[in-house]
Formats: sequence, structure tokens, C-alpha cells
Amino acid sequence: MFPRDALILAPMAALTTPALRWLVKDFGGCDVYFTEMISCAALLQRGPYEDSYINPEPEPDKLVYQLVGSDIEKAAAAAEFLDERPGLGVDFNMGCSAPEIVRANAGVAWMKDPRRARSLAAALRKRLKTKTLSVKLRAGYEDNFEYLSAFCRGLAEEGVDFISLHPRIKKEKFSRLARWDYVAALKEILPIPLIGNGDVKTFASWADKKERYGSGGIMIGRAAARAPWFFAFLRQKEKDPAFQMTVDLEAVAERFLDLLPRFQPEDFLKSRAQRFFFWFCRNLAFGHGLFVSINNCKNFETIKKTVLDYFVQYPEMRYKTEKN
Ligand SMILES: Cc1cc2nc3c(=O)[nH]c(=O)nc-3n(C[C@H](O)[C@H](O)[C@H](O)COP(=O)(O)O)c2cc1C
Repeated sequence: MFPRDALILAPMAALTTPALRWLVKDFGGCDVYFTEMISCAALLQRGPYEDSYINPEPEPDKLVYQLVGSDIEKAAAAAEFLDERPGLGVDFNMGCSAPEIVRANAGVAWMKDPRRARSLAAALRKRLKTKTLSVKLRAGYEDNFEYLSAFCRGLAEEGVDFISLHPRIKKEKFSRLARWDYVAALKEILPIPLIGNGDVKTFASWADKKERYGSGGIMIGRAAARAPWFFAFLRQKEKDPAFQMTVDLEAVAERFLDLLPRFQPEDFLKSRAQRFFFWFCRNLAFGHGLFVSINNCKNFETIKKTVLDYFVQYPEMRYKTEKN
């Protein structure tokens, strides 16, 4: 399916667009790219924005589409639709804890009812002929490893090919560290690969998680949004511990601003650019000031100008050396 030490780009709403995936690819790529979550209902209605969600670029063979929804029949129909498109797999979101998603009985709400989750997995399995089936989840509503492991075993019995675990419980959002010991323990009892996810932000944290907890691959979200070169950096530093990577931030920002309109509908450009620069600005000294300016922009064109002007005004910010 993919290598045991696979590097996987996490699904992130409004972030893991083809534009961000292209930036990752520019630096050498990763082993698997997730899309952001895609609403089953909207996909089936073939709404005006759906083509941008399911665009498989830049490496269709490594792409996993992530679905979100609460209705088993709609989810199965959406999976069937995606099964006929280019791509590696279809994932189902059982981890999102955003209040509007949970209220709609989707995301982590699936973890409340193992039988319902199994029925969904079985329905998806039946419709997927060419794609892998995976599920991404949190540790659950409560901190209860026995419940989590029974839940995951049930999914495996219904034919799920792999599971990605972000081991925080529902109410934790990003507070406290992810429970990577759950990744290690769950991996031992599951008959299918388990991908670990959460808090990999440096080479040392990646190497540590690989060595101490093992897993069928490691999924990275926020660090890749800040630094689309992060996967390339990890691979090279693995070969040479003294490796440092100097990145032309201005070139990356320009490339993103060029890529985004190629893949996103006009209505999404401002919000998606703001979401990307929220993370990207963390590479810059005084980046918060730039982000506030970007956030106050009325449209994409002004964001573009603000970013380009910044590098004219502060040419010393152009290069960053990634060391850790
Ligand atoms: C802005 C943002 C959007 C996210 N959207 C999704 C999503 O659409 N689907 C999903 O399963 N997880 C989503 N997540 C969770 C990430 O996939 C990942 O599990 C989490 O960020 C922990 O990994 P990290 O520490 O490497 O960032 C999102 C996270 C962030 C920060």
C-alpha cells in the first residue's frame, strides 16, 4: 500500500488544497497526500465547488480523499463516486471535533456508537473496488483505551485497510500532548496498519516517534502547513544528521499565490490564502504583524500585494534555514 515508514500529509480543512500539495511536491513530495475533508452530501449534489475539493493533483496515485458526513447511504454513494476517479484511497473522518460537525452527528460523533461505525465501514467497503478504505480518528470521547481498541478492531473486521490515529480525546482539541503510547499499544493488537499522528514538529520529534512507538507511517499536519518543505527536510536529515535546509520563503509564497487561483474557485481565494499564511508567517520574524495585515485584507489581490510588498520592505526575511 505504502512504505512502513511513510510520511503522510494530514487532511486539513481549507489547507490541504492542491496548491499546498503542489508546494510539498515541489520539494520532493511525500508518500501519501490527504485532501481536506469533503462533505458527502455536497459531493453528491455536485455543488459548484466540488471539483476543487476532488482535484487529485499533484500526484493522483498517492492521493486519499477524505469524506465527512453522518449518513451511511450518502457516504457509500460518495465513496462509489470517488472510486471511479484517480486516486489511492478513500478515508472517512471519525475524528473531527469541530462543534458544527459533531452537532451534525459527523466526525468524532461516529465514535459514540461502534455498531453504527461498523455499518458505515461495511457499506463503504462494499462500494470501493479500486481504492483503499481508511478511517481517521481521535482517541474518542473519553480516555478509554479498551473502548478505542475494540472500536478499531471492529473497523478492521469490516475490511478497513488502515487507520490513522490522532490520539487526543474529543474535548482536548490541541491541548496536552498526543498520547503516542496509544499508537504503540494499538498497533500491537490491530491486524491492519496504524498511522500515528500528532505533534511532529521537528526532526527530533519525528525520529523519536518512529523509534519509540513505531507505526505504519507518520502523518503530519501543522508542521507541513508551516513548512511545505518539512517532509523533504526530514528525509534528508535522516541521511545526514548535520543537514540544514535553506529555503527561499519569498519564492515559496509567490509560488503559492500563483498556484491557489489555478485550483480554487474565486469565492475561496481569500479564506484559503489567509488560512495558509496563518501557518506560513510563523517562519518569519515579526510574522504575526504580516499575518494581521493579511487577515485584514478585503480580497485575494490585496493579500498578494501585501505579501509581495513585505519581502520588498524586509529583504532580509527572504531566506530561512531549517535546522531542527
Ligand atoms: C487547520 C486544521 C484543519 C484540520 N482539518 C482536518 C480535516 O479536514 N480532517 C481531519 O481528519 N483532520 C483535520 N485536522 C486534524 C489534522 O489532520 C491532525 O490530526 C492534527 O492537526 C494533528 O496533527 P499535527 O500535530 O501534525 O498537526 C485539521 C487540523 C488543522 C490544524
